[in-house]
Amino acid sequence: MENRDCITAEAIRSYLDTDWLGREIQFFEIIDSTNNEACRMAEQGTAHGTVVLADSQESGKGRRGRSWVTPSGSAVAMSFVLRPQIPPQCASMVTLVMGLAVAAACKDLYGISTQIKWPNDVVSDGRKICGILTEMSSAIDHIHYVVIGTGINTNVEAFPPELTQTAVSLHQIIGKRPVRAELIAACLKRFEQYYTLFEQQQDLSLLIDDYNALLAGKGGPVRVLEPGNEYTGISEGINAQGELLVRRENGVLEAVYAGEVSVRGIYGYI
Ligand code: BTN
Repeated sequence: MENRDCITAEAIRSYLDTDWLGREIQFFEIIDSTNNEACRMAEQGTAHGTVVLADSQESGKGRRGRSWVTPSGSAVAMSFVLRPQIPPQCASMVTLVMGLAVAAACKDLYGISTQIKWPNDVVSDGRKICGILTEMSSAIDHIHYVVIGTGINTNVEAFPPELTQTAVSLHQIIGKRPVRAELIAACLKRFEQYYTLFEQQQDLSLLIDDYNALLAGKGGPVRVLEPGNEYTGISEGINAQGELLVRRENGVLEAVYAGEVSVRGIYGYI
């Protein structure tokens, strides 16, 4: 690994310009999963805004029980511990804030226009750059903590054939190796800014326009894959709760809270 691509706490701090996010940074050369470590630290009482980073993960986790591969030197694997003062049913909104932050950081640093596939994959030309997995510990009416885990494909030069249609790295898009510490600091900065706006309103009302401007497939056909309930409709963007509004062929407007949504042209849905 090149020295300049070091992602120790010290390296991140040399770029960092945040008020509270990343005051505590824990870096691991190798860990099972930064989300697992962030959960362990949260259980031990670590502060709101703690950031966990790893150069590689042995059992990185994706959404819906999938695994997430993080080979050394090739990616960003980071998790934030948050202790939001919001009802548990609002926690999923924070995930959308993270997608927005990653897309904004990529624009700030590299001038590239990415899109967000609802709820929070960051994509470029229909291929995934970044995935986000949010986990939570809560009582019925109180959040103990939320962990937001973000994986960004940074330095992968070539994906295996089965992934070339669905995954892409920043290196492939910008034609050079991104400096991971700089990218991590930019994501933290943007997340802090957007999270402040989220916290003020306790919803996404101040972020809807920015989010919908980046939403992949907005105004076009989408397929909603809810268990036992699959339908197609036109994506009308998110509402202040972060739900995806889909106009069904019969005119009914559905607000999709959870579930998979396929978007034409993204990951090959045609
Ligand atoms: C997805 O399936 O799209 C979500 C992928 C999330 C991966 C990140 S990498 C850092 C953090 N630690 C994990 O084990 N998962 C998340």
